[in-house]
Amino acid sequence: MHRTEDVHPPQRSDCTVVIDGCEVPCLPGETVLHTLLSVGKVSIARRKGDVESGAYCGMGVCYCCTVRIDGVPNQRACQLPVRPGMRIETVPAGGSITDLDALP
Ligand code: FES
Repeated sequence: MHRTEDVHPPQRSDCTVVIDGCEVPCLPGETVLHTLLSVGKVSIARRKGDVESGAYCGMGVCYCCTVRIDGVPNQRACQLPVRPGMRIETVPAGGSITDLDALP
């Protein structure tokens, strides 16, 4: 998966993460949310009532950016820096992750 949304794409990256099964270059220190947005992933969670959700506050308050990271659900993408090899799961269109739905 290519980063298409960066204003200035990284010249090189020695770091990758896996987003929904696809390897994505990342920059050490950037947030998981930044990496998701860099590949155009804006709808990343699904709330009660099957409502799609994307990042809203960007500062850890709204919980609209929760994803599963390395098998652990409900991680706020805007609050965590990427780590090499991190496995990030968003809620795909039409999909559902029950434990993410438990949040407000
Ligand atoms: S965008 Fe609000 S908690 Fe992450």
